[in-house]
Amino acid sequence: MNKKIFQFPQDFVWGAATASYQIEGAWNQDGKGESIWDRFSHTPGKIQNGDTGDIACDHYHHWQEDLNAIKKLGLQAYRFSVAWPRVLPGGRGLANEPGLDFYSRLVDGLLKLEIEPYITLYHWDLPQNLQDEGGWVSRTTADAFVEYADLVSRALGDRVKNWITLNEPWVSAFLGYYIGHHAPGHTDLHEALAASHHLLLAHGQAVPILRQNCPNAKVGITLNLTPQVPASPSVADRIATTSADGYINRFFLDPLVGRGYPQDMINETEDKMTFIQDGDLSIISTPIDFLGVNYYTRGIVRSEKISEAENAPRTTIRGNEITEMDWEVYPEGLYKTLGRLYFDYDFPAIYITENGAAFPDQVGAEGEVHDPARLSYIQRHLQQTQRAIEAGVPVKGYFAWSLMDNFEWGFGYSKRFGLIHVDYQTQKRTFKSSAQWYEQVIKQNAVE
Ligand code: FCB
Repeated sequence: MNKKIFQFPQDFVWGAATASYQIEGAWNQDGKGESIWDRFSHTPGKIQNGDTGDIACDHYHHWQEDLNAIKKLGLQAYRFSVAWPRVLPGGRGLANEPGLDFYSRLVDGLLKLEIEPYITLYHWDLPQNLQDEGGWVSRTTADAFVEYADLVSRALGDRVKNWITLNEPWVSAFLGYYIGHHAPGHTDLHEALAASHHLLLAHGQAVPILRQNCPNAKVGITLNLTPQVPASPSVADRIATTSADGYINRFFLDPLVGRGYPQDMINETEDKMTFIQDGDLSIISTPIDFLGVNYYTRGIVRSEKISEAENAPRTTIRGNEITEMDWEVYPEGLYKTLGRLYFDYDFPAIYITENGAAFPDQVGAEGEVHDPARLSYIQRHLQQTQRAIEAGVPVKGYFAWSLMDNFEWGFGYSKRFGLIHVDYQTQKRTFKSSAQWYEQVIKQNAVE
């Protein structure tokens, strides 16, 4: 049988991603301050099984071993985040040198192994001190972020060339301040809208600082983008789909490219958005070098405004391949998303900064972890990525989520996304079969 080979461009970047709170542990060591995730996970009832990130993968102590694993995997790039309260325990003001040293060692270690660091400045672990002053609902947090970005880029900017300001501001704002599943666990729509705006403002204000501290740096932001499709062609479902797309995708994409907030969203929320000040939108649309995309699945939208009986029969049905997160496996959605970003929004470059899947992995008798479903998930998403590149979309790299199993937020340790299996009792790392396969993909710069 002839197998089709999906060949990637010569300079395509192969990587994997992690985030500080999900892997580091050492939550109160060497002067680190408390984050909203420390507070949230220490609050009974917030996280499945009462899990916390106190120890996680203990990467803070196992970093050297983890770098060796990254090298063995053949990664060309590693995306990780800096824990803000580790370097600025109070959110602003006095820096914590041991915290900065940790990231400096990590960066040096990566460069020594010829692996390019991609730093995310904010992957959700806000210093609790800033939350006590209102968190992202307060505009002053955006200013504190700039101070933090300045500190980190001064310390590491001589060596780090790729910077991502924020990871998934939608999740920070909406899961944190409206749905309440994430820290700080609030449930107020106005707060979520204000938080979104201040996150975007923080991003826009930080871009010139990063450029100034690291002249040749490439600066971007990562969004979680989820294409929304109507469950049926009914008018009600189509309206609901436009709204879902507005909340999840356009509310962030539009202001970033200078279109302002989508008018239909403003009308729909009937929120006065009084927190927007003159000049904010131009700061938010400061040009970036790339957009980071985290893609996992699509949304199929059914209107809640009319009853199931009144609505048209569903025509878009969820596929029967579902991950352990209850997310439909829908690789074509990645192709469509990438196309939209280029042809509708004209981003100059795009990185897939996260893509991957949780499945209930089993450790075999010989200690091996065989995970064909994850392998197939990544394979098909890479095929769609390559299709997008062939269609002209400037996708520059791919980061698998995640390098290793880790603390999956509200789900604690119950969901495993890693290419590398972690035994949380012994901290033993084991390459899953998907990792061995990914190693070959990188070597060949192609997928079958
Ligand atoms: C994304 C997060 C990442 C991880 C994956 C599964 O939303 O950025 O930290 O939890 O989902």
